[in-house]
Amino acid sequence: MTTHPQLVLSGMQPTNVLHLGNYLGALKNWVKLQDEMPCLYCVVDMHAITQDTGYRHPKELAAATREVTAAYIASGVDPKKSVLFNQSRVPEHAELAWIFNCVARLGWLGRMTQFKEKTGKHKERASVGLYTYPVLQVADILVYKATHVPVGEDQRQHLELSRDIAQKFNSDYDTPDFFPLPEPVIMGAGTRVMSLRDGTKKMSKSDESDYSRINLTDDADTISQKIRKARTDPNPLPDFEKGLEGRAEAENLVNIYAALLGKPKSEVIAAFAGKQFSEFKNALADLAVTTLTPIAAEMRRLLADPAEIDLILQAGAEKARGIAGPIMADVKRIVGFVA
Ligand code: TRP
Repeated sequence: MTTHPQLVLSGMQPTNVLHLGNYLGALKNWVKLQDEMPCLYCVVDMHAITQDTGYRHPKELAAATREVTAAYIASGVDPKKSVLFNQSRVPEHAELAWIFNCVARLGWLGRMTQFKEKTGKHKERASVGLYTYPVLQVADILVYKATHVPVGEDQRQHLELSRDIAQKFNSDYDTPDFFPLPEPVIMGAGTRVMSLRDGTKKMSKSDESDYSRINLTDDADTISQKIRKARTDPNPLPDFEKGLEGRAEAENLVNIYAALLGKPKSEVIAAFAGKQFSEFKNALADLAVTTLTPIAAEMRRLLADPAEIDLILQAGAEKARGIAGPIMADVKRIVGFVA
């Protein structure tokens, strides 16, 4: 029962190894959402410096930001329909994050499982930024009063935090309904893309085997080869969905096929029931190649002109500030900052 208009915000960290999981799990859905409601899509470069792995080199971070921007656009995120920008260019994110650092309780952050997973035994050596990473994420969302946040299952806890922070701010400052309580838009199970080598692990840029993932920039031969070498079991495709239970690798390939096609899994199973995986893999390789190679080509075209990408990001940041600026001015007034 909220008065807030529907607005989507999502973001991805800049990395130069975007893969099929990022495309099917996020980008493909972002593209769909931009025809349903206003959307903001952000390259979260401020989150990227919370861990020093990968980003000791400023040039690498800048290149990765441009690369992810190119991937967004090549996948169909249209800078004319959606607001596309990099986080660090909109200072309101950091301003609101500070205020939210003072709203969120230490105990809430202490429960965040991603921090524990990322740091393991080396908590003491983690940056303070990594600890408050989820608070910055909440600021990313609420600085626009976004109501819908498409994310993977692993981000559910951060979305709960956004609701907790919004609720506490609204009640502490006696401004009911000032911030909306954002809803996660969790993408379907079919879009959870697993490793091609181990169907129980998520496809990931940090997996040491390149054969575990299909990178958005892989060429046609590489894509086909990775799919042909993907792990399966000796059984043929089942003729009913339940027949994939306990067959993680087989299920993953069927899920990928269905997601690429944009059709339910049951249709894929109906089409390939009883067929051998060798045959199915050929069809999957063809489908993956026809979907992904135009994206790679468009990324290459865009990346040949980095100045053009920078202009797109700059224009996006101006639009983003146009929304965030007035909200931040209200927040400062509410908190009691003299302006
Ligand atoms: N933490 C998110 C991830 O790892 C990335 C992210 C940062 C994000 N800020 C966001 C996602 C705001 C959605 C909304 O996937």
